[in-house]
Amino acid sequence: MAKDKNVLDTEGLTFLEDGEVLYSSLYLLSETDEKGIISYASDSFMQIANMDSTDLYGQPHNVVRHPEMPRAAFKSLWGDVQSKGFWTGYVKNARKGGGYYWVYATVLRSVDKNGNTKYVSIRVKPSREDIKKAEELYATLD
Ligand SMILES: Cc1cc2nc3c(=O)[nH]c(=O)nc-3n(C[C@H](O)[C@H](O)[C@H](O)COP(=O)(O)O)c2cc1C
Repeated sequence: MAKDKNVLDTEGLTFLEDGEVLYSSLYLLSETDEKGIISYASDSFMQIANMDSTDLYGQPHNVVRHPEMPRAAFKSLWGDVQSKGFWTGYVKNARKGGGYYWVYATVLRSVDKNGNTKYVSIRVKPSREDIKKAEELYATLD
């Protein structure tokens, strides 16, 4: 990770002093099986996570979990995708090797004709105001 203040590197990532990493990708994608085991990640997701397919594929999706994320958020995610087929919310993820990034995630359930379930997460960049609100809310949750 770059040590200089607010460095924009050649891959379009900006490393802020407190460890936050900003990205220029429009969206970050990943897919899991019904148990949350990763079966696909877009290049943009691998770049911001600082992981490759061997770090991600076959691993549970909590491999990118940030310790400050409240359990309640993931309880809501799994409850909603199983009952309603979708969930949206703000997620702070840990970057491998240090640092973190915020996303606004839409997680969808998809069932194929054989009845196999998978989940897809489409993440976009939240605004600074939305990140601040999510931080405030998450600080009050378990
Ligand atoms: C499609 C999909 C994408 C997910 N993306 C993330 C993610 O980016 N970060 C994360 O911490 N958890 C993500 N989760 C939730 C994890 O599966 C897991 O519930 C969460 O990390 C909490 O882990 P834990 O219950 O082992 O503490 C995702 C789940 C699904 C189904």
